[in-house]
Amino acid sequence: MKPKVFITRAIPEAGLDLLRPIAEIEVWEDELPPPRESLLQKVKGVDGLLTLLTDKIDSQVMDAAGATLKVISQMAVGYDNIDVAAATARKIPVGHTPGVLTETTADFTWALLMSAARRIVESDNYTRDGKWKTWMPTLLLGPDVYGATLGIIGLGRIGQAVAKRAKGFDMRVIYRSAHRHPEIEKSLGVEYVPLDSLYAESDFISIHTPLNDSTYHLINDSALAKMKPGAILINTARGGVIDPDALHRALRDKKIAYAALDVTEPEPIPLESPLLTLDNIIIAPHIASASIQTRNKMATMAAENLIAGLKGEKLPHCVNPQVYR
Ligand code: GLV
Repeated sequence: MKPKVFITRAIPEAGLDLLRPIAEIEVWEDELPPPRESLLQKVKGVDGLLTLLTDKIDSQVMDAAGATLKVISQMAVGYDNIDVAAATARKIPVGHTPGVLTETTADFTWALLMSAARRIVESDNYTRDGKWKTWMPTLLLGPDVYGATLGIIGLGRIGQAVAKRAKGFDMRVIYRSAHRHPEIEKSLGVEYVPLDSLYAESDFISIHTPLNDSTYHLINDSALAKMKPGAILINTARGGVIDPDALHRALRDKKIAYAALDVTEPEPIPLESPLLTLDNIIIAPHIASASIQTRNKMATMAAENLIAGLKGEKLPHCVNPQVYR
């Protein structure tokens, strides 16, 4: 009998092709994630779960799956939707997909940064609205990117890839991270600064930290008040790092100039969110890793983690290796 696997949404075929020969798979085919009741129902008796960041995987889900559950494999690098401590307590390894999405996410961070600085979304709307009547010396002005100061919060893989790109724009790059990285400071020419200095000195601030207790609403009224009036804030990490009400106040009152978000709190952003009434914000629907190649690699990696777990082997990319001790 093949092991049973529940996959919480359709993923790229590259991943399914790996799984089909070894597991009996059930895919939740809807566009939206399984509602809680369906999730609790579908996981019953499975050996493996392949999850997305939209699924809340807590002890109730693990208990609903029962003693058969051997592995949880998340198709994302972030895993704040999973109660990892609860998985560890049950000796269930949790996999994720680091590395393969680093460059793609850094590219998208830059797409947002450039779009915000040079007001590309507003420009496109302007053209489509029939407002383009002539060349104008003061039309849609924005700040220069080259030579500006970029502040990076979280210098992990993605933060570093963003910093590397900044060097091509002759930017000064400063950073704050949970850990200091002296070798990277040398190789990438980046400076470690206190958070308050980062806020005060950056023209662009880009967030690349995981969401956890110490980063939840890190960007609040007090942090925003320390930023330059011309500051542009970019978030491709997790929505919960920014207090959305504080961001709305800061953008509305022009305490900072612009924000470009790929992630929001909550997701999706409610259509009645006051943030959507502002012109000085761009909001993308959490697509930073959405290149064709990268989504295939993420699906493949998630399948490989899952298969290893089903076979009782060590997951190639495990977030809780303590389960093997
Ligand atoms: C996407 O947000 C991811 O964590 O991979």
